[in-house]
Amino acid sequence: MSRLIALLLCVLAAMASAEARVRRYKWDVKYEFKSPDCYKKLVITINGRSPGPAILAQQGDTVVVEVTNGLETENLAIHWHGIRQIGSPWSDGTGGVTQCPILPGDTFTYRFIVDRAGTYLYHAHYGMQREAGLYGSIRVSPPDGVAEPFAYDYDKSIILNDWYHRSTYEQAAGLSSIPFGWVGEPQSLLIQGKGKFNCSKLAAPTLDPSACNATNPECSPYVLTVIPGKTYRLRISSATALSALGFQIEGHNMTIVEADGHYVEPIVAQNLFIYSGETYSVLIKIDQQPSRNYWITTNIVGRNATATTPPGLAVLNYYPNHPKRVPPTSPPTGPMWNDVAPRLAQSSAIKARHGYVHTPPLKSDRVIVFLNTQNKIDGYFRWSVNNVSFTLPRTPYLIALQENLHHAFDQQPPPDNPPNFTNYDIYHVANNTNATSRNAIYRLKFNSTVDIILQNANTMTANNSETHPWHLHGHDFWVLGYGTGKFDADNDSKKYNLANPIMKNTVPVHPYGWTALRFVADNPGVWLFHCHVESHFYMGMGVVFEEGVEKLGKLPSEIMGCGETRGFKRP
Ligand code: C2O
Ligand code: CU
Repeated sequence: MSRLIALLLCVLAAMASAEARVRRYKWDVKYEFKSPDCYKKLVITINGRSPGPAILAQQGDTVVVEVTNGLETENLAIHWHGIRQIGSPWSDGTGGVTQCPILPGDTFTYRFIVDRAGTYLYHAHYGMQREAGLYGSIRVSPPDGVAEPFAYDYDKSIILNDWYHRSTYEQAAGLSSIPFGWVGEPQSLLIQGKGKFNCSKLAAPTLDPSACNATNPECSPYVLTVIPGKTYRLRISSATALSALGFQIEGHNMTIVEADGHYVEPIVAQNLFIYSGETYSVLIKIDQQPSRNYWITTNIVGRNATATTPPGLAVLNYYPNHPKRVPPTSPPTGPMWNDVAPRLAQSSAIKARHGYVHTPPLKSDRVIVFLNTQNKIDGYFRWSVNNVSFTLPRTPYLIALQENLHHAFDQQPPPDNPPNFTNYDIYHVANNTNATSRNAIYRLKFNSTVDIILQNANTMTANNSETHPWHLHGHDFWVLGYGTGKFDADNDSKKYNLANPIMKNTVPVHPYGWTALRFVADNPGVWLFHCHVESHFYMGMGVVFEEGVEKLGKLPSEIMGCGETRGFKRP
């Protein structure tokens, strides 16, 4: 009898743990003075914090975030980067695409299912608010009883960011002015929200002694305390506005095991290259000389910031050494900023882990080549894709399509191929004066397989090509390959990795190179695909895909209220 009861209890316990939970968060978003790198400025905080609170959930859970916009004079939208929003496209948080922004004083509830274990992030997706400090990490653990293909003792999240002292308004206004105003390289790099600006470098001394205070505890370095002999899983993500980063832990190799929520065939690296919008898990063994602490560093690659932006520093604190004890060595210098080859090599080396491969469809139904260029339109500097520089409409696409508001945006689809690509010289400054600003979108056949080739080129500066991390909302894509030079449709497509490509949601396009992706358009909704460099997207570097909107039911009225949808929002 007692055995029967025990068995019954076991069954009940299993049922309870298998049941998906609802994780509720209540967030107050506002501006506050903060000094993340010792320099005091206005920062957007969530419940008083930047980075905001981490979201912790388990696969299958429903996450409910009730966001109150306390910014007083500013709209708001928050995007859950890497979460596909299957069945909830109105919770993607892309202002102008999937919702009207949250008005000052209003409360909006995001509700979505986290359907895959892994490391993700969230950030503001309205104007350039992300770089004002609204960002944080999301960690989704596997369901009970599902083992991961690697072992570790502790699990920690570290979010990286670059940091500007000028406000996002000043930056945005500069980008859309004649003459063009560019804010330049960031003042600091932040590790888990903490950096160190050298206050003595301030151009003009201020009367306020707290304006830059090197002893402010807000800017004491982030300390990761570790126990010798243990293995740590570090979930590293990047929310940078501009910078591509290298990340290192002095004296410790890292084993890359996860990228954007997918298991990676393990790669041992001294340095992890990470681009804005990417997430990785690395394993480190705490196996070095235990009587000291070690540096954790991050530095800018891909742009010359050596004279302007010092490396970001944090401390790996070997227990029981004092956490404030400075490592006796100078921090590792990191990779050369202008050496593209190791970055391309690391990108190409990331493959799906054996036993966890999702094989892509072997053929695609549609191939779209996106030539990334810098242009001038009516005297303004812009970024364009196939000569179209993206602008957001006043009415969000999701609502415009569902409610048949045909005047809400340009109905003429943008081109699948760069005009005159055969004659385009990607190595020189082009005289591409014929670009236009538009808000047209790509409509994809539901369930079709789409290939995207991202082609990089020279900017409007001689001998310069930038790194662009492209991020797709609503999907993961297979990374079929990377290459240098101009994409050759006949030959390069034969070399695609169809055997074990990694799936990701963000991928770099390296200078003068191309990156090929494949995805299945099977998630009804409207999805942004854009460069994750905040200023580049602001200047037009993005496109929008629509698929299967006709399959969606009635849209929640909470996402309405702007543009042509003003009458749709019932109180
Ligand atoms: Cu993390 Cu549309 O971005
Ligand atoms: Cu870019």
